[in-house]
Amino acid sequence: MKKRYLVTAALPYANGPLHIGHLAGAYLPADIYVRYLRLMGKDVVFVCGSDEHGAAITVKARKENTTPRAIVDRYHEILKSTFEKIGINFDIYHRTSEPIHHETSQNFFRKLYDSQEFIEETTEQYYDESVGQFLADRYITGICPVCANPDAYGDQCEKCGSTLNPTDLKEPKSMLSGSVPVKRPTTHWFLRLDQHEAWLREWINTGKLNGIQLHDPAKWKNHVVGQCNSWLDQGLQPRAMTRDLDWGVDVPSEIPGSEGKKLYVWLDAPIGYISATRQWAIDQGKDWEPYWKDEDTALIHFIGKDNIVFHCLIFPAILKAHGGYVLPVNVPANQFLNLEGRKLSTSKNWAVWVHEYCEEFQGQEDVLRYNMIRKMPEQSDSEFTWKGFQETNNNELVNNLANFVNRVMVLTHKYYEGKVPEFNAAQTFKSGWTNEKPVIQADELKSMKEKLEEMSAKIESFNLREALMHVMEISSAGNALLQFNEPWKTIKTDPEQVKAVMNMALQVVATLSIALYPFLPFSSGRLRKMLLLPAIEDQGELDHLLKSLSANEPILAAGHEIGEASHLFSRIPDEVIDQQIAKLQATDVANKQDSGDKQINYQPMKETIQFDDFMKMDIRTGTILEAEKVEKSKKLLKLKVDLGFEQRTILSGIAEFFQPEEVIGKEVVVLANLAPRVMMGTESQGMILMAEDPDGKLCFVSPDKGWPGGMGVR
Ligand code: MF3
Ligand code: ZN
Repeated sequence: MKKRYLVTAALPYANGPLHIGHLAGAYLPADIYVRYLRLMGKDVVFVCGSDEHGAAITVKARKENTTPRAIVDRYHEILKSTFEKIGINFDIYHRTSEPIHHETSQNFFRKLYDSQEFIEETTEQYYDESVGQFLADRYITGICPVCANPDAYGDQCEKCGSTLNPTDLKEPKSMLSGSVPVKRPTTHWFLRLDQHEAWLREWINTGKLNGIQLHDPAKWKNHVVGQCNSWLDQGLQPRAMTRDLDWGVDVPSEIPGSEGKKLYVWLDAPIGYISATRQWAIDQGKDWEPYWKDEDTALIHFIGKDNIVFHCLIFPAILKAHGGYVLPVNVPANQFLNLEGRKLSTSKNWAVWVHEYCEEFQGQEDVLRYNMIRKMPEQSDSEFTWKGFQETNNNELVNNLANFVNRVMVLTHKYYEGKVPEFNAAQTFKSGWTNEKPVIQADELKSMKEKLEEMSAKIESFNLREALMHVMEISSAGNALLQFNEPWKTIKTDPEQVKAVMNMALQVVATLSIALYPFLPFSSGRLRKMLLLPAIEDQGELDHLLKSLSANEPILAAGHEIGEASHLFSRIPDEVIDQQIAKLQATDVANKQDSGDKQINYQPMKETIQFDDFMKMDIRTGTILEAEKVEKSKKLLKLKVDLGFEQRTILSGIAEFFQPEEVIGKEVVVLANLAPRVMMGTESQGMILMAEDPDGKLCFVSPDKGWPGGMGVR
């Protein structure tokens, strides 16, 4: 292991709040990893902040008729407080609009400029004539050349995660006016990515740079390396590092031609990790440089899959071109999380918003964290459902973890007045791990230590879901320990053995209070309180625990007094889940109403009529008694309808939608005083009322079942 760690989580665009996809993709994994490193006594700095530049921001400002500044101020606050509420503890949550960031990224630009890493080139770029603006990145949309998503952006496709150039898009359209853009010449500075291709390929695939082993490629996720290689195989092209925009970091003014030019957001944003570290160091009175420049630093970027090439190819190229910086030892990107069968979407409001969750589920932050980890899209896309959320809570958190803890707490108070019982090391009992007997406590401590080591190995290889499952296995083993030994039965007959069992059960709870900390920090805190143990202070507690378990030393000394039992988790009832599902359904309905392609063409309203006009119609309830096809007519069914006081023959134009058998017995509403009309040789004596959709599809308008025929309708 390296001496120190610099862990980054992708800087979220300050153009919207945080949803569960963000959480599961980058932030929760990063937080778990950092908490784990600290439990192991490592020196870690964990940075993040708002990404406040780029078209993501200006497009949003334009949509809301306000300024980019107003947008970033609003969402920066929301993002920052949401991270705090859900227990994601950055050492600093910075912003790219801060002067220190502008300075840091301009210095980078200068350095690259001076070392001739750029080529200055005039190229034809898309331009919207109606608004007078060049269209880079998110200002332009079109069909994705990879997956045919019709709404891909000029810089990337949110559906398949591909990184794009505006000229890759088929049928490009201006985001600003919807018009088809024209091409116009403009001058920009391009990073010679083509010149970095060879070493990037080697570094990604072998971990070596100039013959020095910098990372172990076997530890990188397959899909991350795969995406990089597919990019590399297409050949890296020079990439523009500047834009024609009025919001962003200025190209340093001493550079000729800098006027009106801003840094490309994917140049400035990752440098945001560095400026955040600098600010952190100023605030803490520390030195930032070792964290970025010393070879004994492990730099790790946690991101979602749509950020892969920026963190694995472009930013490393920038760091190397600058010189003096370490490269990431891993970029454990996650895939996408879907919600109830569909892709999460900020613009379509198809999301579970984390700040709303924290409002509605106060005190249950860990339930969301647990669910996110259970469903973490570590190797492939995964899915969140509210039903699954409920089941996971009720079956795993309540039935396994909370019940175990509660039993131990209650029994300890009942049998030993809340003090950890003494135990005789020679006492044997049935193991919670294997149900074999007899075991002594030392065996149980050893099994627990091995589980913790498996957990550690999984965290270190970024398999966080499996790591958490190992922690839950410790809780299951604790439950089994009680179940197999039934202390509530043997307390009378074998009190010495019960002491040993209960002592062991308390050691399990104490172990969980540490092992859960990376995953469920709020619950870990509650457990520590219940046990009257000091709060976790990131002082290598897991390291110490492993050492005491190896030495066969219990964590809770006999005689240690514990506190009150409190419920860690409670069952989530159906109503709560139904409410959340209803909320999503409402979103769905709203989306259908205003989605462009599915627009409903409502028939125009007819002119106003008077009450008397309406009263002229004699509308009655009835039942269809017989139905048959009308020869030579595709549309008509011949119906016999019972109006109670008489039967009518009615021809109805429903044959394309209903078979005769289907409509027999159907209760209907009939316009009964419509002048009779002869069609296909038969007189029709009324009209069945139907509803019609824009496609001409029909459905019956019916009274409630069992309503008598012949009743007036008004
Ligand atoms: N704002 C980007 C996104 O949400 C991520 C930027 S990560 C950084 O996709 F490295 F550029 F900071
Ligand atoms: Zn695509």
